[in-house]
Amino acid sequence: VSRGQSDVNRKLKYISLAVLVVQNASLILSIRYVRTLPGDRFFTTSAVVMAEVLKQTTLFLVDSLVFQYKDTLKLAVPSLIYTLQNNLQYIAISNLPAATFQVTYQLKILTTALFSVMMLRKSLSRVQWVSLLLLFAGVAVVQVQQEGKKEESVSDGANQNYTVGLVAVVISCLSSGFAGVYFEKILKGSSASVWMRNVQLGVFGIALGMLGLWWNDGDAIAERGFFFGYTGMVWCVIFNQAFGGLLVAVVVKYADNILKGFATSFSIIVSTVTSIYLFGFHVDLLFTAGAGLVIGAVYIDKERGVESPPLAVSITD
Ligand code: C5P
Repeated sequence: VSRGQSDVNRKLKYISLAVLVVQNASLILSIRYVRTLPGDRFFTTSAVVMAEVLKQTTLFLVDSLVFQYKDTLKLAVPSLIYTLQNNLQYIAISNLPAATFQVTYQLKILTTALFSVMMLRKSLSRVQWVSLLLLFAGVAVVQVQQEGKKEESVSDGANQNYTVGLVAVVISCLSSGFAGVYFEKILKGSSASVWMRNVQLGVFGIALGMLGLWWNDGDAIAERGFFFGYTGMVWCVIFNQAFGGLLVAVVVKYADNILKGFATSFSIIVSTVTSIYLFGFHVDLLFTAGAGLVIGAVYIDKERGVESPPLAVSITD
């Protein structure tokens, strides 16, 4: 141990002892205080559990965020973009009919491919580009077909702004492609676990999200409360979104962003077919053509995973 090191250790010895004196005294006094107050008493057993939970959470966060702060900073970029994107999506869906949103949002298949080629140097053959275009066209056709079947209700369009919705979708597509590929690059460029990466991503997400909340809805939330208007269904949306985020991380780790696009496009076909059975929609030529394109695209692309070269890149170094 060097001399400088032992000086530091000696300082830490006295500082930690001094802090312990203050902490211990204040702990005993404050326990005594909360236990002698009139009114409802808390369960002491729950306080013991909570302290342990807090301790473990702190240890985990300090380990992943502070000790690996260089990695943490790298994730600020996709985190900022995802936060923006998640907010834009609400704007887009609120301003566009659901099917229109779905069609235009599929443009992210193409932006994802472009960013994968540029940032990860993935090579896509001409056939694979064609399959991506088919995929996009197929999903678009299916969505247009579904939209044609619906009668727009009178209330639709009242508070909606088509242009705002479209701009929000286009920016979302660019951000989805970029952030997804950036996250993939970080994930595959190091050995850190996908969970760790998500924690690092999440800290910024929470901080930036709170900033957006304060900026946009600060006054209204101060007046009505953070959970104003939360119904059971709203909680379902939130849980689904959180689950989806974790799922995306796993998919990007074990597959990639382009395959993720294929899977979500395929799911649009599956959900449409399911609703045909459940709600008695009719399959017409347009739907069959669109679904055919998507399935064809998936088929053409199925060899891709085998060809793609292993990734040996890291982001900053
Ligand atoms: O539409 P797209 O596939 O780009 O949406 C990805 C979603 O997954 C975003 O809502 C993003 O916040 C979330 N995500 C996540 N954790 C990751 C990667 C993405 O929560 N590691």
